[in-house]
Amino acid sequence: PRPRVWVSQPLFDDIVGRLGEYFDVDATAEVTAWTPVQVAEKLRGVAGAVVTLNERIGPAEIAQAHGLRAVANVGVGYDNLDVEALHARGIVATNTPDVLTETTADLGFALLLAAARRITEGERWLREGRWRQWSFDTLLGHDVHGATLGILGMGRIGQAIARRGAHGFGMRVLYHNRSRLPAGIESNCRAAYVDFDTLLRESDHLVLVLPYSPQTRHVIDAAALAKMKPTATLTNVARGGLVDEDALADALAGGRLAAAALDVFEGEPRVNPRLLALRNIVLSPHVGSASHATRRAMAALAVDNLVAALGHGPRAGDPPTPIAAKATAKR
Ligand code: GLV
Ligand code: GLV
Repeated sequence: PRPRVWVSQPLFDDIVGRLGEYFDVDATAEVTAWTPVQVAEKLRGVAGAVVTLNERIGPAEIAQAHGLRAVANVGVGYDNLDVEALHARGIVATNTPDVLTETTADLGFALLLAAARRITEGERWLREGRWRQWSFDTLLGHDVHGATLGILGMGRIGQAIARRGAHGFGMRVLYHNRSRLPAGIESNCRAAYVDFDTLLRESDHLVLVLPYSPQTRHVIDAAALAKMKPTATLTNVARGGLVDEDALADALAGGRLAAAALDVFEGEPRVNPRLLALRNIVLSPHVGSASHATRRAMAALAVDNLVAALGHGPRAGDPPTPIAAKATAKR
């Protein structure tokens, strides 16, 4: 019999359908909130799986999955996968970098602009029928052009946001990263490397684009927020757990930070009620890569990754994009 594969969520039927060339496909027709026990059941008896950020896969989920050889994550971040545990069992894990870089950078910049210029706040104000209360100082925000852009996590997406800021908005760009980038990339992004404290102190608009791991949990906490300018904005398009949301709510409510824009939250799909109650925050439901073209490209790459990882002639010789063991994010 042909190997069996599981696709955890509806993607695009025509793209998922390609798996049928090689495998018996257990495709999911409706969006499903799988429990860990259900994930474990689904993985039992399949050779591979295409999963999304909503499915956590660790030792418990793969304990009975004796035939599992590959897990293709639809997404660039993979803190939902215990890569070390998968690799220990010889299971290939892949993600979808590159195809979503520019789309996610677009959303990051859109959120930055929305926070700085109070766009969603202005829309609420207008819809509430308050235009007659307009005055010369209604909805004053902070400039983006010519300001200092701070990037925490200078990967592909961070670099794409830096280029937008430097080349499109004439911003001075500072970044902090685990390791400094080669001079050629720095000059292409017109970005200068600084230590974490300098980044916090000097940024007018700080954007978080770093991977989530136990080491980066709450990297933006009360102490970090206290170092930022009271006129600054904070934008997060990476993972909610990078920010201590209660500390952020305190800073926004207390006027110690001008505004924030979040596409990601620590307890998704739950949103901290303290954030919901604030006026100076832009909230977005984890849609960084959500353009028509990019979501199709991500699904196609995940499907190609799975086909290649299971050793079936990859179309056009695409190799899978495996996740390196070293970059593991433990739970
Ligand atoms: C989305 O959050 C992704 O990591 O691709
Ligand atoms: C993260 O891996 C990125 O592409 O920035």
